[in-house]
Amino acid sequence: TTERTFSIIKPDATRRNLTGAVTKMLEEAGLRVVASKRIHMTREQAEGFYGVHKERPFFADLVGFMISGPVVVQVLEGEDAVAANRKVMGATNPANAEPGTIRKELAESIEANSVHGSDSAENAAIEIAFFFQPEEIVG
Ligand code: CMP
Repeated sequence: TTERTFSIIKPDATRRNLTGAVTKMLEEAGLRVVASKRIHMTREQAEGFYGVHKERPFFADLVGFMISGPVVVQVLEGEDAVAANRKVMGATNPANAEPGTIRKELAESIEANSVHGSDSAENAAIEIAFFFQPEEIVG
């Protein structure tokens, strides 16, 4: 079934001019970019977006990293988009990611891991609504 997921091209990737390279890998995985915008997240946005990780030891570093430069937030659409996106991203830690995945080929570290992707369709809907108005998404 066709579904949508939410993606972030993180500051380590925008800094290295990898927005196109990441997007190309997403598109080659069968995902269509139906919304996209480059933003510099506020601390409040980053803390809110990653609220589920609030108690984790890496939370403060993660928020600091996510506001260290611009990001590109995107809505991706396709057949089983959540799973397709997770597959092309690869494991959270690039050291554990499969060859050919975005994180294996492009990421720098477990924190500077180039991309975020929703882990479920349920969370995708929440994450999409966090950054996009319905009319900004053109399917
Ligand atoms: P992301 O999919 O954006 O969701 C939470 C992020 O926390 C994760 O990707 C990583 O970039 C970051 N992170 C930093 N340190 C860790 C860690 N030790 N374990 C898991 N995630 C981490």
